[in-house]
Amino acid sequence: MTYLVTGGAGFIGSNYVRNLLKNGERVIVLDAFTYAGNPDNLKEFTDRFFLPKSYTEVHPIRADTSSWRIDVDQSWVEMTKNRWKRKFEGYKITELTQKSLDSSLKDTNLAVVIGNIVDRDLVQFLMKSVDVVIHFAAETHVDRSILRADEFVKTDIYGTYVLLEAARSSKVEKFVHVSTDEVYGQAMDKKFKEEDPINPRNPYSASKAGADRLVWAYSQTYGLPVIILRPSNNFGPYQYPEKLIPVVITRALRNEEIPVYGDGRQVRDWLYVQDTAKAIDLVIEKGRIGEVYNIAGRNERENIYVVKTILKLLNKSERLIKHVKDRPGHDRRYALDDIKIRELGFSSARFEDVIEDVVKWYVDNKWWWEKILEMDTEYKAFVERWYSENAEQP
Ligand code: DAU
Repeated sequence: MTYLVTGGAGFIGSNYVRNLLKNGERVIVLDAFTYAGNPDNLKEFTDRFFLPKSYTEVHPIRADTSSWRIDVDQSWVEMTKNRWKRKFEGYKITELTQKSLDSSLKDTNLAVVIGNIVDRDLVQFLMKSVDVVIHFAAETHVDRSILRADEFVKTDIYGTYVLLEAARSSKVEKFVHVSTDEVYGQAMDKKFKEEDPINPRNPYSASKAGADRLVWAYSQTYGLPVIILRPSNNFGPYQYPEKLIPVVITRALRNEEIPVYGDGRQVRDWLYVQDTAKAIDLVIEKGRIGEVYNIAGRNERENIYVVKTILKLLNKSERLIKHVKDRPGHDRRYALDDIKIRELGFSSARFEDVIEDVVKWYVDNKWWWEKILEMDTEYKAFVERWYSENAEQP
């Protein structure tokens, strides 16, 4: 079987790709390598990346951000290398052709394509070689969506539409869509079941809800063999350092303040990223086509507890904690009823049993996140803007 993994160079995607490759599967990764996609996430498997010639046409120059500036007079490879100079340093970028794709899959079971899911021609081209699609690609960070939602609407909704259309006109056997528990909105005193109404409350979750329902509509309207997953908050290695757990670890290791939104008593259900990977394999094997599956970690914890647990593991003082202004529209709690996937045999790790190893991964792999913090001008700009606007005490 050949898998197309969109967003396969991101956090959950790369963790999943790692498993697929270890199990001997063939994988095409399609990743736009925005700030969150990272060639280092797949370093142990490849140093080669493929770029379609169409690339310039679907990525108009974004004049507003200097880190995105592209010199259009250069050849396409040079141009891309320039854009991601530091990111792709030490890696090879070559042209994507049917021949280069086939030979990479044959030699290494893997082909990593630099490209956007909104690129219709590219998506159609790749889909021809694929049996199963696992769709992770998305803009994912709630705080960024609050500052500016256009990329969320474009990637999460329109990008999903492009993939669905391509899947519809090919012979894809399964289309697994990775949605989120955030589509339900906040859970006050109950756990959400799959058939509960969705009620997203921020631009990110609203975009994901649009994608989630579009995928379902394609199963109802066209009979596309889809399965929709709604996982809770993932944590684990290779998570971009904008999300709570890597924020806490990487800031604490540098003795920087830890920004806790509001009173810090919001609840998230923490799901180890390897358990998400297990859940995906399980639904591919045993899941029912056209169904939605919640995936819970069964680790509902208050943010402040998570922060303090990590500080303790790192032997750092709780004085680093700084309560800052709350996130607008902040969902107080997420909680899922996940009986449906448990009945297929799913189980998940206890937060306290894995967090130590996860913290250790970040301690042992400083090269990975220090490089991001140093090179990613876009992230620096985001941090400056977001955390200074939210710097006041609640
Ligand atoms: O629930 C699944 C979702 O989990 C995914 O669909 C999203 O893509 C993912 O970003 C995540 O959303 P959250 O907003 O829950 O994750 P985040 O790590 O941004 O925040 C977790 C909690 O920690 C949330 O209540 C906000 C809080 N927080 C977060 C950051 C980054 C802080 O208190 N301080 C921070 O600096």
